[in-house]
Amino acid sequence: MWLSHVIPNAYRLAFLGSLLLSVDAKPLAKEEGRERISINAGWRFSRSEYNTDKLAYDLSRNDYANRTDLTVLKPWILPSANDFIVDPAARYQSPSSEPTISSPFVQSDYDDTEWESVSLPHDWAIKGPFYVGSNVPVAGGMGRLPVHGIGWYRRKVEVTKADEGRSIYLDIDGAMSYSMVWLNGHLVGGWPYGYSSYRLHLTPYLKLGDDNVLAIRVDNPGNSSRWYPGGGIYRNVWLTKTEPTHIGQWGTFITSKKVSKSSAILDLAVQVENVRNSSQKLSVVTDVYLLNSATGKTGAKVASFPRRTITVAASHKASVNASTTVKKPALWGPPPSQSPNLHVAVTRLYNRNNDIVDTFSTNFGIRSVVFDADQGFLVNGERIRIQGVNNHHDLGALGAAFNERAAERQLEVLQELGCNALRVSHNPPAPQLLDLADRMGILIYNEAFDGWQLSKNPNDFHLIFDEWSEADVRAMVRRDRNHPSVIIWSIGNEVGEQTTGETGAAVARRLREIVHSEDKTRPVTASMNAARPNMPLPGELDLISLNYQGEGIRDTGPYAGLPGITTPPLYVPFHEAFPDKLILSSETAATVSTRGTYFFPVTNWTSAPANYTIGSGGNDTLLQVSDYGLYTAPFGASPDKVFVAQDNASFVAGEFVWAGWDYIGEPTPYYAARSSYFGIIDLAGFKKDRFFQYQARWRPDYPVAHILPHWTWGPDRVGEVTPVHVFSNGDLAELWVNNKSQGRLPRESESVYRFRWDNVTYEAGEVRVVTYKKGKEWASDRVVTAGEPSALRLSADRTAIAGNGLDLSFLTVTVVDNKGNVVPQADNEITFTASGGGGGEVVATDNGDPRDFTSFASRTRKAFSGLALGIVRASRKGEVTVTASAPGLARATVKLTAK
Ligand code: GAL
Repeated sequence: MWLSHVIPNAYRLAFLGSLLLSVDAKPLAKEEGRERISINAGWRFSRSEYNTDKLAYDLSRNDYANRTDLTVLKPWILPSANDFIVDPAARYQSPSSEPTISSPFVQSDYDDTEWESVSLPHDWAIKGPFYVGSNVPVAGGMGRLPVHGIGWYRRKVEVTKADEGRSIYLDIDGAMSYSMVWLNGHLVGGWPYGYSSYRLHLTPYLKLGDDNVLAIRVDNPGNSSRWYPGGGIYRNVWLTKTEPTHIGQWGTFITSKKVSKSSAILDLAVQVENVRNSSQKLSVVTDVYLLNSATGKTGAKVASFPRRTITVAASHKASVNASTTVKKPALWGPPPSQSPNLHVAVTRLYNRNNDIVDTFSTNFGIRSVVFDADQGFLVNGERIRIQGVNNHHDLGALGAAFNERAAERQLEVLQELGCNALRVSHNPPAPQLLDLADRMGILIYNEAFDGWQLSKNPNDFHLIFDEWSEADVRAMVRRDRNHPSVIIWSIGNEVGEQTTGETGAAVARRLREIVHSEDKTRPVTASMNAARPNMPLPGELDLISLNYQGEGIRDTGPYAGLPGITTPPLYVPFHEAFPDKLILSSETAATVSTRGTYFFPVTNWTSAPANYTIGSGGNDTLLQVSDYGLYTAPFGASPDKVFVAQDNASFVAGEFVWAGWDYIGEPTPYYAARSSYFGIIDLAGFKKDRFFQYQARWRPDYPVAHILPHWTWGPDRVGEVTPVHVFSNGDLAELWVNNKSQGRLPRESESVYRFRWDNVTYEAGEVRVVTYKKGKEWASDRVVTAGEPSALRLSADRTAIAGNGLDLSFLTVTVVDNKGNVVPQADNEITFTASGGGGGEVVATDNGDPRDFTSFASRTRKAFSGLALGIVRASRKGEVTVTASAPGLARATVKLTAK
């Protein structure tokens, strides 16, 4: 059994709630002794598809193998990892002199005025154009967008008189990938893995004034990922200014134990860094306050840690520990049964004269977590079934560039689904995503890697695993271990080393030990699609995470004969082999579909592969998969099959569905497309039919009834068998077509949320369902045959947004007939415009169609299955009028207020 009672989280109070305002290089808030300044604005950017600046991290990439003209900079970059390498002997020595760089871009006086002006977070690839067809530089797997190549970012930073004597750091939340940083012509350092956050010490190269020039080079290889990585500095970038003696990077760690409603013990560790050349004696004081999750406002003080004194030698770090008790703690837990209450610990450092030299706020939560092999997962003593999904990091039409509102919207739609957990596949997320998860009460499965030493793609992480894996894992854990939302550390996804016996197990052991040396309070796992109970690797993990193996792979009729391994359901064999380890499914389903698209006949099975047999739901010419939710990747299983398998194994803690939202890249089964078919929610954020199947299961008290398919078919379907399925959590359902009952169906079993009338004959008109629960009417739905498109309907998810250039309104256009019915196959070309005093701008559009190669930046977008999305921002206070128009249709308008 894995017990933990912690909840820490270290993000600074300073940017809680103020992220959206962080456009300018202004201090976000002042914590006495330190400033954290957003430097997202005001960059110049230039990209080249090929390596013409003749610099390289190293030559191990397949496209650099024969490049004898490149200057290799790895020896100067590796030392950036040193703070994250525990064994002093394993740390990297900096070369004795600086490298000779011929590229003018690193020089302060280079004239970059012709370069593009950009703000961070920035994804250079998202506007396209898409590469269509075969023999292209970036194919379907990585999203057919120009992610590869070299990007340079340049910007000035200012040092004022007040900064003299202070330590100044550059904090990069994430740059994709192999980023390297020069300041005033000096190479400061860098970090290859694009998903890690890192810090560089700038002070030695800074000078007084406003003409310090930062030049950041990002070199993103092709063939490096199984999904769309994005390209460039795609997360926030900060300057942190402190006194030379200060709380270190991610320098606090708060855990809680003996957690109950009446009290909890908090343990705190504070690491102090001293870059002065004399030793410093300080005292450390930490007070704990309530933190309002919704507003970010600090509430009452609930505890103080006893004052500690510490002496830190010159150019060293040292830590102090302290404990305190909180009475009647407001516990953190996932809704709907619990509340995500947060606390903030404010740590102050005082010098000998009792002056404050640093202040650092650590947000955290108090909760107990138990991973029990038989009872499953418990938060604060309550069993919580993990109802999770996997998401990649892209934000659809906005690409990889992190945007807080876009991420929050993804989580909101997931909570509407009843989802309570998110696996950030397969890499650490933007830190602000974890802030959102803390605030919203979403459980996070935080994952380091998609691969170790064995490659999945020629230029992926395996090239740098040996030199960087310790640093990347420590960086993940130190950054994220105070977040109450984070419950599990994963050291890898479906790594090739699952099946290499002791060799792979040794790697797992090393990584697990690294994690535990940073955080003993959470279990370590790795996601396994191929390791069997009798293999060494699972024995190295604190809990068992299965991908697809729980419900069985290719083990039922329609999958017979497909190439690839066949695996019987393995929940029970794993439970027998590891009776003390909790089991969960880190990936289930891999169901594929195109929203609002249906093909006939429909399989009689409850799960079938999407494009291998006739009537299998896939259409190779149209590159579409039927949305009945029965069709899967060759190794996958429909939700129906997964639910039965999970309910037959009550010890299983729950699942993470592959996938929550569609993402760019990996368009299985049609690699000619641009984006995935796996989502419960499409790339634009529109619900596929199986949204309601999961909602019916995950929100048992919420009445759900949802009919599919649509009922607007042409003359060729009249008289044809057109199966009608209904997703519901009722226990009885009756269906009518044009008021003729198609019969009453009882729910098949507690694990089934689909009622199927497979012999309905199509005739235009109305389909209606009423479902019942315990003899009472529970939920109903109705679908009608629509007429021709006649008008557009426009609705905004939020009509009041901040006029700061960052906040967003997501607007949905629906094509309707003259009675206001949705026209389900409408594909009218829609143009979005924004006008008014708020400086409104249509940033991107989408429709969720994996085959649409119109640039995401286009303001004109065809509707797909009746819907289109426009994403709008405002640059200042005022009104924004958004209009959607299409030839021949009545236009629609929505007014937004930018505040
Ligand atoms: C899994 C893999 C995921 C994704 C999924 C669907 O095997 O871990 O990253 O590829 O299959 O194809």
